[in-house]
Amino acid sequence: MNVLGIDIGGSALKGAPVDIRTGELLAERCRIATPDPLSPAKMARAVAELARQFHWRGPIGIGFPGVIHGPRILTAANLHKGFIGCNGEKLFAGATGCPVALINDAAAAGLAEMKFGAGRDFAGKTLLLTLGTGVGSALFYRGVLFPCELGHLPLKGRDAEKYVAASVKEKKDLSWAKWGTRLGRYIGVLESILWPELIIIGGGVSAEHRKFFKYLKPRARLVPARFLNGAGIAGAALWAAERGPRKA
Ligand code: BGC
Repeated sequence: MNVLGIDIGGSALKGAPVDIRTGELLAERCRIATPDPLSPAKMARAVAELARQFHWRGPIGIGFPGVIHGPRILTAANLHKGFIGCNGEKLFAGATGCPVALINDAAAAGLAEMKFGAGRDFAGKTLLLTLGTGVGSALFYRGVLFPCELGHLPLKGRDAEKYVAASVKEKKDLSWAKWGTRLGRYIGVLESILWPELIIIGGGVSAEHRKFFKYLKPRARLVPARFLNGAGIAGAALWAAERGPRKA
């Protein structure tokens, strides 16, 4: 079965049809930039536009950067505040005319990495972090997903993601050493309470892991995501296939 996977991010939405037996993207991914925070109605139009690009009529899995309970979006730290409390599955299903399954973006990336990527066949305690506009997180134990919001752990008096996200490195023009040391400190705090055996780092910046992994020095085994930035798309599609999307 093929599913259209869509990853909604702070600066763009990206999507492609995914072969859910392998996690591979079946076409070049389509990217729609969202330089200004889009209202839910405008985002729904952008999602429909992306589906149209692929002439899509089947199930859609969507990763969203916020807390998701069932079909609902409960938080939107880096997106339009109009999403808070909104029934995201209904919104996107209505706009596309296709059945939609919604999942947190980092949880989606984790599903793809644990099934086909850097955590494949690993049943021990795993922490996945995505470093982008914000910091996404997901935990796995014996292959079971626990979505969480470790990017909002207080660090130096503010949300950790305001200190260690890849967007902060860019905005503040931090060197790899400076940003890597910050990230290392944050990961140290997470390790002291979670004790993961494996840490997977995703998000666009994971393509450059050689430049900053040396500053992290975790106790756990540390690896870049295999899908790098594509994990969110593949995982959102997997979620739709696994859970079954609600009808439009
Ligand atoms: C959100 C998370 C999301 C992460 C990465 C955070 O600000 O609260 O839900 O996974 O950003 O996009």
